[in-house]
Amino acid sequence: MTKTALVTGGTRGIGASISIALQKAGYKVAANYATNHDVAKTFTAETGIKAFSWDVGDFDACATGIAKVEEEIGAVDILVNNAGITWDGMMHKMSAEQWQKVINVNLNSVFNVTRAVIEGMRARNFGRVVNISSINAQAGQMGQTNYSATKAGIMGFTKALARESARKNITVNTVAPGYIETEMTGKIDQKILDSIIAQIPVGRMGHPEEIARAVLFLAADEAGFITGETLSINGGHHME
Ligand code: CAA
Repeated sequence: MTKTALVTGGTRGIGASISIALQKAGYKVAANYATNHDVAKTFTAETGIKAFSWDVGDFDACATGIAKVEEEIGAVDILVNNAGITWDGMMHKMSAEQWQKVINVNLNSVFNVTRAVIEGMRARNFGRVVNISSINAQAGQMGQTNYSATKAGIMGFTKALARESARKNITVNTVAPGYIETEMTGKIDQKILDSIIAQIPVGRMGHPEEIARAVLFLAADEAGFITGETLSINGGHHME
C-alpha cells in the first residue's frame, strides 16, 4: 500500500524539496505550513501536493491538523520534522521572547507533531521519523544560542525515541544540513555569508535537493537498520 508522508514546513525551502522528492518516489505527501497561504497555494498548484495550515508550536493545533491529514491523505507512516525558524541575536542582546519563540517553533513542535503520530505508527508496526537539525547544533554559531539549542535538543530527542521505538519497526534519525541555499540563509549579511562559504571544503552552499535525497534514503523500507543516527550533509564544513 502507498505510504503517507507528512513534512512540516513542507511548502518552502528544504521542506518543499523534501515534499517533492517523497512525491516523486511514490509516497502520498501532506505538506504542513504555518501562515504563508500564498506560497502554499502556489506550491500546491505546481506540485499537486496538498498543504495543511497549522502552527506546529501549538499542541492542540497539531492534534487537529494531523487528524485532518489522516482523514484526507492517510495515516502518517513517514514524518519529517522540518519546520524551523531563526531569530538570531547575541546572547547579551537576546530577549526572552526571542529565546522562547525559537524553542517553541523548532523544538516543542517536534514533541507536538511526533506525539500525534507515534501511537498510530506503533499500532501499525511501521514508522520513519526524520528530524531536521543543523550544523549549528554540532558546531555552534554566533548569534544562535536559541537555534543551536533547539537543533541539539532534536538530536537527543532522536536518540531517545529511536530506543523507545526500535522494536516497533519505527526508525528515528536526524539529518543535519550545513548552509543550504534557502530564504533562511538568504537573510545572512553577505560579508558574513562569504566568510562562512570560505570555510566549506566543497566551496559552495548546498542545494535543498541534496538534503531531500538523504531524507528519502532514511524513509525507505530498506533503511530499517539505521536508527538513532545523524546524517550530516554540509560539504565537509563540519566533520564529527
Ligand atoms: N561568522 C563569523 N563572524 C560573524 C558571524 C559568523 N557567523 N556572525 C557575526 N560575525 C561577526 C560580524 O562580522 C561582526 O564582526 P566585526 O565586529 O569584526 O564587524 C561581529 O561578529 C558582530 O556582528 P554584528 O555587527 O552583525 O553584531 P550584531 O549584534 O548586530 O549581530 C549576529 C550579531 C546576530 C550574530 C549577526 O551578525 C548575524 O546574524 N550573523 C549571522 C549568524 C548566522 O550565521 N546565522 C545562521 C543563519 S542560517 C541557519 O541557521 C541555517 C542553518 O541551520 C545552517
